[in-house]
Amino acid sequence: MGSILSGLRRPSRTSESHPEPEQLVPTLDLSPNQHELLVESWKLIQQDIAKIGVIIFIRLFEVHPECKDFFIPFRNVDDLHELITSKDLRAHGLRVLSFVEKSIARIDNSIRLQELALELGRSHYRYHAPPKYYQYVVSEFMSAIHPLLKDKWTTELENAWKNLFAYICAMMKRGYDEEERRKYNDGDYSSNSLEGNKNAVI
Ligand code: HEM
Repeated sequence: MGSILSGLRRPSRTSESHPEPEQLVPTLDLSPNQHELLVESWKLIQQDIAKIGVIIFIRLFEVHPECKDFFIPFRNVDDLHELITSKDLRAHGLRVLSFVEKSIARIDNSIRLQELALELGRSHYRYHAPPKYYQYVVSEFMSAIHPLLKDKWTTELENAWKNLFAYICAMMKRGYDEEERRKYNDGDYSSNSLEGNKNAVI
């Protein structure tokens, strides 16, 4: 069974003009059995994606209310019950779970999966959503799928999802950092925090 961020290797080379700080490159390490467990469990999860997406975000906003501020349509909603029927929240949840679906479709193709997650990290820099919060979404995803999978839930399955998300979050962070460095190298020194960008278009 693979550990959460099992293989970590050094990058083969760094850019010469603007060297990246030396980082460990995350690798996705799934056993063939974990691979199959992900694909099979996704078939069950897929049947309920709209509901799961809403549950993930209601729970996220309940447990970590600070995350709500990153979403323009939800930041002024005080009563989370209002969000249960919100079309915006449903659409957002579906976008996130479509991303998971694409990731599952690419677990055989590490280059395409890596590019997908890096690009998502770059876009999260533009949404002002920093990496320290990504794990919260993962925790809520795990809590939401557990009751759905009932007797199919095993430690091996749990570890398979954790491995996949650890890789995705690590790649998102790289994409986020890359975009931040690019902005800096382009001479854009403005803060990317929400506080510094109250009127930013997300
Ligand atoms: C594993 C963690 C996460 C995943 C997989 C994820 C995935 C996504 C996806 C697929 C989108 C649709 C737009 C796009 O593809 O660029 C999106 C948008 C967005 N995400 Fe995330 N996200 C994660 C965590 C977070 C967190 C923790 C926050 C805030 C604290 C956040 C804030 C946003 C915002 C503000 C948008 C744009 C608004 C929107 O599309 O509705 N995300 N995210």
